[in-house]
Amino acid sequence: MKTICLLAQKGGTGKTTLCLHLAVLAGELGRRAEIVDIDPQASASAWRRRRQGEVPPVSRSQAAQLDGVLADRRRQDIDLVLVDTAPHSSHEAALAVQLSDLALIVSRPAILDLEAIGASVKIAQHQATPSAIVLNACPPPQRDRETAIVREAREALQVYGLPVSPVSISQRAAFSHALIDGRAVTEFEDTGKAAGEIRSLWQWVESRW
Ligand SMILES: Nc1ncnc2c1ncn2[C@@H]1O[C@H](COP(=O)(O)OP(=O)(O)OP(=O)(O)O)[C@@H](O)[C@H]1O
Ligand SMILES: [Mg+2]
Repeated sequence: MKTICLLAQKGGTGKTTLCLHLAVLAGELGRRAEIVDIDPQASASAWRRRRQGEVPPVSRSQAAQLDGVLADRRRQDIDLVLVDTAPHSSHEAALAVQLSDLALIVSRPAILDLEAIGASVKIAQHQATPSAIVLNACPPPQRDRETAIVREAREALQVYGLPVSPVSISQRAAFSHALIDGRAVTEFEDTGKAAGEIRSLWQWVESRW
């Protein structure tokens, strides 16, 4: 079983959004995927209530219980757990990182977000867990080229010494629209650009282990 946690001490960077779309995609690719929601806001759990069908399950847990929950899922032969964490929760986020195989720090490419990422990087770097930064809600590429904002964000992030995903996720209505009735982009618009980006991100994530 692999465990990935999504973290960002800043609110609204897209942790839950990426968690949900990745979990659904992993299920489509034949993985037994589960989301563990340790955010008291419980947005992933609310999405689950709007969703038809059995998969992916979303379980709520407190960070302190995460260890036990993961041990249980290992016994159940779950392939992938995605842990959705809360903003402004350094202790809980650190626990989640510690228990994960990969920590993905989610940031928007704007300067205020890039400046705020230091707290999340510190949490990840205090643990032995491999971690990386993913840029989300980026201006979409123009003629298949990343925009200057995204290129500059990538450069600015180099100071942290963490890998930055070569796949960035664009600001696309499909990412939020799909969630309204409990779906994900690969179900909402399977051949759309948003679905393509999530597939590319998943490929990159899988290439890390
Ligand atoms: N790539 C994207 N394209 C369009 N909208 C997005 C994208 N990523 C996130 N959003 C929107 O931005 C808002 C915040 O996203 P989300 O709730 O996933 O962030 P979060 O980091 O989980 O927030 P919190 O810190 O409160 O848990 C939501 O309205 C979501 O629909
Ligand atoms: Mg969230």
